[in-house]
Amino acid sequence: MGSLTPTLERLIRRLPKVELHLHIEGSLEPEMMFSLAGKHGIALPYASAEEVRKAYAFHDLQSFLDLYYAGCNVLRDKHDFYALAMAYFARAHADRVVHAELFFDPQTHTARGIDIGVVITGLRDAMDDAYRRYGITSDLILCFLRHLSEADAFATLEAAMPYRHELTGVGLDSGERGNPPSKFERVFAKARSVGLRPVAHAGEEGPAAYIREALDLLKLERVDHGVRCDEDPALVDRLVREQIPLTVCPLSNLKLCVVSDLRAHNFATLLRRGVVVTINSDDPAYFGGYIGENYRATAAALDLTAAELVTCAEHAVRASFLPAAQKATLLRNIRSEALHNA
Ligand code: ADE
Ligand code: ZN
Repeated sequence: MGSLTPTLERLIRRLPKVELHLHIEGSLEPEMMFSLAGKHGIALPYASAEEVRKAYAFHDLQSFLDLYYAGCNVLRDKHDFYALAMAYFARAHADRVVHAELFFDPQTHTARGIDIGVVITGLRDAMDDAYRRYGITSDLILCFLRHLSEADAFATLEAAMPYRHELTGVGLDSGERGNPPSKFERVFAKARSVGLRPVAHAGEEGPAAYIREALDLLKLERVDHGVRCDEDPALVDRLVREQIPLTVCPLSNLKLCVVSDLRAHNFATLLRRGVVVTINSDDPAYFGGYIGENYRATAAALDLTAAELVTCAEHAVRASFLPAAQKATLLRNIRSEALHNA
């Protein structure tokens, strides 16, 4: 892998960043897993945080999801969700994240008897404090687990309705293979009817056809991952024509063997083709890097230029659910940082 020039290092450090693909449960670091397990008297099948990290060797999405869902078991009360999100915001602030749209997986918690209100209010308190402490704005996106049924997704949406005002969008995650977007067409229609903005994981492990299906049936505003789009050149044309953003997570793709080597990632090709690609961290505690590290590793592996890195940061602002005035401010800030670094 190539190394970064000091100029690119500095640019990446200083660029104001917007993160659009971050599972808050995927920011649970092993140290916090141990401290919460101790707090709740939960036995972990590991002797130390180091041992947990050693177990993070994945061969596909499911091998990761098995550990990710098991890790969630230590999240029990509102203070746990608050601490989880606050730790993410501190880390994000260090990477100059100025806005983040957080995914959360309520079904992972409600299935263990935890009320959805506990999850949402814990996260919301942290989001409010992150704004006060760091000036970071944030939104919540409720994700349905696609390996569960449509009925379960409907029940989850219903349970979330008392907290409708805390939510910005809905998403779709978990094991993609065999769980096509069509399974959730009706629940997404219902979510859109109450003003929730639709996104979904598609084309991570699943085929390009799932990306098309998600766009057509779920009416997505952006696609999470979407990296398998290049198996269908007409789909890539459409992504460019309609300027549909992809929230790409390069280190995740590497760790989950979606790509064998970052140098073989199609990120730069898609960027140069005119696709609105963005750089994100997905589940940083599991994949060995927060957003800054994703920028650095991608730039080094694919020889991204300063102008291209600035474009990625701008894409994320445009692809966000922020109001136009805040987007304009962030775009100005990115441009002024780029000029300073030139
Ligand atoms: N849940 C958490 N991370 C995920 C990913 N990368 N793909 C699908 N579901 C997920
Ligand atoms: Zn994801």
